Order: sequence, then structure tokens, then C-alpha cells
Amino acid sequence: MPCEGVPVDNLSRNVRDPIQDADVASASRTFTLGGMTPQPHPAAGAAVKAADRAHVFHSWSAQELIDPLAVAGAEGSYFWDYEGNHYLDFTSGLVYTNIGYQHPKVVAAIQEQAATLSTFAPAFAIEARSEAARLIAERTPGDLDKIFFTNGGADAVEHAVRMARLHTGRPKVLSAYRSYHGGTQQAVNITGDPRRWANDSGTAGVVHFWAPFLYRSRFYAETEEQECARALEHLETTIAFEGPATIAAIVLETIPGTAGIMVPPPGYLAGVRELCDKYGIAFVLDEVMAGFGRTGEWFAADLFDVVPDLMTFAKGVNSGYVPLGGVAISGEIASTFGKRPYPGGLTYSGHPLACAAAVATINVMAEEGVVENAARLGAEVVQPALRELAERHACVGEVRGVGMFWALDLVKNKETREPLVPYNATGAANAPMAAFAAAAKAGGVWPFVNMNRTHIVPPCNVTEAELKEGLAALDAALSVADEHTE
Ligand SMILES: Cc1ncc(COP(=O)(O)O)c(C=O)c1O
Repeated sequence: MPCEGVPVDNLSRNVRDPIQDADVASASRTFTLGGMTPQPHPAAGAAVKAADRAHVFHSWSAQELIDPLAVAGAEGSYFWDYEGNHYLDFTSGLVYTNIGYQHPKVVAAIQEQAATLSTFAPAFAIEARSEAARLIAERTPGDLDKIFFTNGGADAVEHAVRMARLHTGRPKVLSAYRSYHGGTQQAVNITGDPRRWANDSGTAGVVHFWAPFLYRSRFYAETEEQECARALEHLETTIAFEGPATIAAIVLETIPGTAGIMVPPPGYLAGVRELCDKYGIAFVLDEVMAGFGRTGEWFAADLFDVVPDLMTFAKGVNSGYVPLGGVAISGEIASTFGKRPYPGGLTYSGHPLACAAAVATINVMAEEGVVENAARLGAEVVQPALRELAERHACVGEVRGVGMFWALDLVKNKETREPLVPYNATGAANAPMAAFAAAAKAGGVWPFVNMNRTHIVPPCNVTEAELKEGLAALDAALSVADEHTE
């Protein structure tokens, strides 16, 4: 419903009230990391909210059941609403603001690029694009030296799979049950014009398998070694029964993110690499969430010393200041498209604003030691604090993670490991997690909550003081979750 006295329809048509605009802007300016309270402006917030409710169709949501917070501004690890509340963002947005909000150097680089060359078609060589590709290729493992830019993570995965299919001449893709790779649907198979022909391999052909996850082992394993060996055996059996000559790619998140931050046991990814080599399958690592510092390395693959044939990235590449994703391509696969055209592309592939943001972000990360910060504070602050929380709280079943990439698996019962809420629970069945999240927010931390887990994924340049503040609020919220244990 439009709120009283505010021209909501005008808002939606960009005919805005200048006084209100000035107030909204000043609300953003008043916040500093020194802890000053943002200027509240509930009327402006109500207008933003009303226009949202009237016209914005949100991702993954039952539109009438959601209640999005109206956000007035953000800086560093914090954001704030129009009511004067500020929150420490333990989600990094959707795990992408690896350098926090409004980093002045990245904002300036975007402004400068906008003033110089705000857009240009993908077929030309553009300084920001060339430099972004060079900086990324310098950091990717092995010979992943060619960069195809996309608008985000899902299309990066689609293109990686398309490259693998065309390179191998095989149709199928194997991926893990516990994974998230994006929201699009191999859109080119729906396309009608001849650009579809070379890609018309059909949308079917994805086969799922179980990747290792000792805490909830599908293999009755009791040690990481058993889990690793049995998961590899299961994968090889899946390959054999599907027919190795039908499989183009195995796609895995290096460390599955949204599905629960399950760090693979030592040897697993190397074992998958071996299976791929043995059967001529392309190995695709999806680093959309785990890449660009999140794990305390530039790429999570570096933790395991493994080199895929294709690697997808997005999110942290420019902290999401402008949408950008891409595929890093091995020499061998790139050479498949040396004389033969690659049948795929995007109007905004390597958009100058997004690439300028990537150049500035990567330089900031290098200059400010952001990757090292994630590794150090992850090991020295987050890990011990979470382990200590697990000892004190009945609801914490397992702590897992690395760098600034951690999960608490919340359970009803530590012995049985029964999840605090059922798989994919909604409504009343999800009440314990909802109560946990509400308590965290009341304590000033915005938590990442997925099913029976909370993920601790703040910006990679978070400070020790901010971490301690957030962990204290989580401690209190876990006490609320404890009330739902047996
Ligand atoms: C591992 C992984 N791959 C792909 C995606 C999809 O990225 P996007 O939402 O930018 O399309 C995500 C998003 O969370 C992701 O975590």
C-alpha cells in the first residue's frame, strides 16, 4: 500500500521529490565507521518500501509473503535502514562484497570510467577490459589464462558448460547434489535464431552425484579419509554407469557455498582431477562464491593445489559494485576456439564499468592485504570463537570453514545430528531458524541463514573488532536457538 502523503507512483517513474532525495542522501552521509548513528528518516523509508511492494518482483520469493527491509545506505561492513538502525553485515550481501560497501577507491574508479568511456561493445579492445583480464589471469591457477566475461555467475557456469560440451563433443554434465550454480536455464536452448544451432545439445543431461560431506556422510564414513575414498569411488561408478564417452564435464564448487560450506577432504579434488583426465572429461570448478579472497586465498583451488580446465567467477571479482562474472579458460580449451568461432556471447561481455570496478577491486585487495586478512582473522579469530560457541551451545552441531567462509550446522540434538529445522522447511516448521535470525538482527548483526545453518561470511576486509562485535551478537542469538533443542 502506498504510504500516506508520499507520491509512490512518482517514485516509480523517477519523478522524485528533491527534498526527500536530499534527506535520503544526507542519511547516508551521516554514517561513519566511528559508530555515529545514521539519521533516521522513516517517511523516506516508507516511500521506498511502498514503491518496492507495489512494483518490484523479488528473486526466489512468494511476493506477498516477504517484507524487505528498506536500506538507506552502507559503508564498509555495515548498512543501515531509514529508522536509524545499523547492522553489521555478516552476509556480505549474497557473499559478494568482499571489500565491503562503498570502498572509495572502487567508487572513484567507476566514476572515472563512467566519465571516460562508460560503455563499449564487446568486440573491441578496451583498456579496462584488457587490464581486468590480465589481473585475473595473473591470479588464476595453472594455464587458465584466457578470460571470457559474463554478467554474473549463472551465465558464467552456462558458458563454461557450453565450452566443455563443444570441446569434448559430449552432452552430459555431472554435478553435486549439494550445490548451487545459478538461476538461468541454459537460455540459448530456448533461443530461436541460428546462434542456437551449435549449442542445441538439449537442456537435459545433468546427472547428480554425492560429493563428500563427512558430518552428514552418504557413505557411512567415519573419517575424512574414508569419506574421500568412498566419494571418489561413488563418482567413478557414476561415470562408468553413465558412460564415460557421454560426459562433457564435472562441475563442482571448489568449496560448496550456499549448500553449506563443506570443505572437501584432502585429496578429493585431486582425485576428481585424475578421474577427469582418465576419462577425457573437462573439470569445471565454480569459484563464483569461493573465489577472490573468500577462503583466504585468491581462489579456493589454491588451497587444494588443483587446476581445473575451466573456472567460473563473479561476485568478489569486483565485490558486485557493477555486475560481472566470467570463465577462466585453459590453453587447451581456448585453442578449440582458435580457428573455430565460439558460439556464444553477451552484449555486455566485459562491460567497461564492471571491468574498471574489477581492476580497482583487485588492486585494492592486493594493496590492502585483503586476502591475507581473511586468512589470518579466519584462523585466529573466527575459528576459535566458533569452536568455543559450539562447546557452549546445544544447537551447534558442527563448525566448518576457512578464511571468511564459515558455517554453523544447527541441530536439535548433537548426538543424532537431526537438523534444527527439516530440509527446505518453511512457515511454522522453520520457526527456530526464524527466531535465531530475528535475535541476531535485534543484536545488530544481519545473519546469513539457509535451512538449518547460519554462515559467517562477512567482508574479507572485516576488522577484528567488527568480528568480535558480530560474534557476540551471534552468541546471544544461538541461545534463542538453544531453546529449540532437545
Ligand atoms: C557457486 C555459485 N555459482 C553460481 C552462482 C550464480 O551467480 P549469479 O547469482 O551471479 O548468477 C552463485 C550464486 O550465489 C554461486 O554461489
